[in-house]
Amino acid sequence: MAALKVGILISGRGSNMTALIDACAAADFPAEIVLVIANRPDAGGLARAAAAGIETGLIDHRDFADRVGFEDALDAALRAAGVELVCLAGFMRLLGARFLERWRDRVLNIHPSLLPAFRGLRAHQQAIDGGVRVSGCTVHIVRPEMDAGPILVQAAVPVAADDTADTLAARVLTAEHRIYPQALRLMAEGRVRVVDDRARIDGAAPPPDVLISPSGI
Ligand code: GAR
Repeated sequence: MAALKVGILISGRGSNMTALIDACAAADFPAEIVLVIANRPDAGGLARAAAAGIETGLIDHRDFADRVGFEDALDAALRAAGVELVCLAGFMRLLGARFLERWRDRVLNIHPSLLPAFRGLRAHQQAIDGGVRVSGCTVHIVRPEMDAGPILVQAAVPVAADDTADTLAARVLTAEHRIYPQALRLMAEGRVRVVDDRARIDGAAPPPDVLISPSGI
């Protein structure tokens, strides 16, 4: 089967983008990254994508009078590259209902919390302020509401008593880099069905372990 053509949207350093690029480099991976677009000229991920030989583009939202114009430009660039699935990877703009209807169930996002907890900005500080013992990350199909939509894969990580937002972010990021390629693979293998706005995954085994945090109590 031909590899699924993927476009990635970024706003920053693009470490999740790099994890997806690295996964797709494996010969048997069922997806390929054909385009990376940033909405900010200073997005460090653009140079990383170009160095990997991937077509890159800059579509700066500030060059457009409104969101519809910006999203039409995104849509046109993605279509021109033959993109079939869009992965948001640290893309810090909300996408509107019109764009998402055109790309229904074909836009993924990664968020650094166990959604639906701690949506929006500063998710790690929200987790620490909430006193939770476990946090994590979520890959989901994107709906117009912020950090909402059918959940594909989540990873849980413990929150240590002395964690700061930065130390927690680093632990969660390692998990992000593992689950985003896994979620992309599920989509590319056609193993995801959306039923009643929840994602059903064909052939998923039950998770083996319970994570208790703090441990050793
Ligand atoms: C990641 O932690 C990602 O989960 C988060 O931004 C970071 C981007 O890092 N995304 C969001 O908060 C979206 N609501 P990266 O550019 O190195 O992938």
